[in-house]
Amino acid sequence: MLHNYDAWKINESLFPTRGAYEEQLKFCIGYAILAPSSHNTQPWRFEIKDSTIYLSLDWSRTIPYGDRKNQEAYISIGCALENLLLALKRFSFAYEVSYFPESFIADAIIIRTHKIKKKKHDELFNYLIDRVTNRFPPSQRKMTKQAAQMIQQVDIEPGTGIEIIIDEKKKKIIADIMEHAINFAFGDVVFKTELSHWIRSNYTQQHDGIPLFDSGLPDILTIIGPYLVKNVPSSRQSRQDKNLILASQALAIFTIGTDDRIGWVKTGQSFQRFSLLCTKYNLFTAPMAGIIEHESSKQQLKKAINIFGSPSFFCRVAYVNRIPHHSPRRTLEDVMV
Ligand SMILES: Cc1cc2nc3c(=O)[nH]c(=O)nc-3n(C[C@H](O)[C@H](O)[C@H](O)COP(=O)(O)O)c2cc1C
Repeated sequence: MLHNYDAWKINESLFPTRGAYEEQLKFCIGYAILAPSSHNTQPWRFEIKDSTIYLSLDWSRTIPYGDRKNQEAYISIGCALENLLLALKRFSFAYEVSYFPESFIADAIIIRTHKIKKKKHDELFNYLIDRVTNRFPPSQRKMTKQAAQMIQQVDIEPGTGIEIIIDEKKKKIIADIMEHAINFAFGDVVFKTELSHWIRSNYTQQHDGIPLFDSGLPDILTIIGPYLVKNVPSSRQSRQDKNLILASQALAIFTIGTDDRIGWVKTGQSFQRFSLLCTKYNLFTAPMAGIIEHESSKQQLKKAINIFGSPSFFCRVAYVNRIPHHSPRRTLEDVMV
């Protein structure tokens, strides 16, 4: 039987070099499913036909209240797409990506592939297994100018932008906007109830959802995690998130020109590349979607930081002394049509 953390045991030495083409593509999808996703819903479906992979949104795994535009779901799909492309490159596939082409009836991103002679792969591939969302409090380590410059050099998807904030004054402004946005979200019982359905104990055998490894709670208390999340006072949650922002070494705001599903998928690709680059430099990312999901907070953020384009994603960037356990993943069989 496949266990809920087995996806993380993938190893490049297991690539089926002598296997059929389809088997090789399936192996690459094994890396795609390690991507982060909103509430760890893993809202992706993959289909292989000949040498083409179809990646689409699994509509049964969206978050109808908290993510009513499906923005977070499409960003998650973008993260999975980026992992897939890095794996394809690593195993010597060339590819061409079409985002939801109108000529194709189903709601899919189409990735056409063919084999090429071995080329140098993208080094971000090396960090796919180590990347993890880390919500533990940041350490007090200062970020050097050099490290800040390194992460600024991220090679993001064309059509998206990134603003990396290290200035303390700007961090303070963003922390206040975030406090307001989280207060709003956690003051809403429907939002909290929906979120609590995706919270898992650290003993979970389920293949999705968020265990509380980085919550600071003793393992035994995580059994009542869903109850705690559903009942956390909004003022407590918003203060905690504000303090995490203030203590983080940097903040990253992703932007797009047009707010649509292609922009969101590309945002996911850029965020994932950024996360992997941070992993290389021993930095962790922790997304906080609340400030983007709350329209007036998003507008305030845009104005306060003087951002060109529409903010589409937000995360903290931090050095953290503790590395949490990975979160569970669905099996390849579950995500393939
Ligand atoms: C689009 C998106 C939105 C997310 N929003 C939040 C968030 O608002 N708060 C949070 O704590 N984590 C957020 N996350 C992190 C996910 O909960 C995390 O990726 C998931 O639980 C899987 O864990 P992993 O990233 O360690 O593999 C988000 C991730 C994505 C991709």
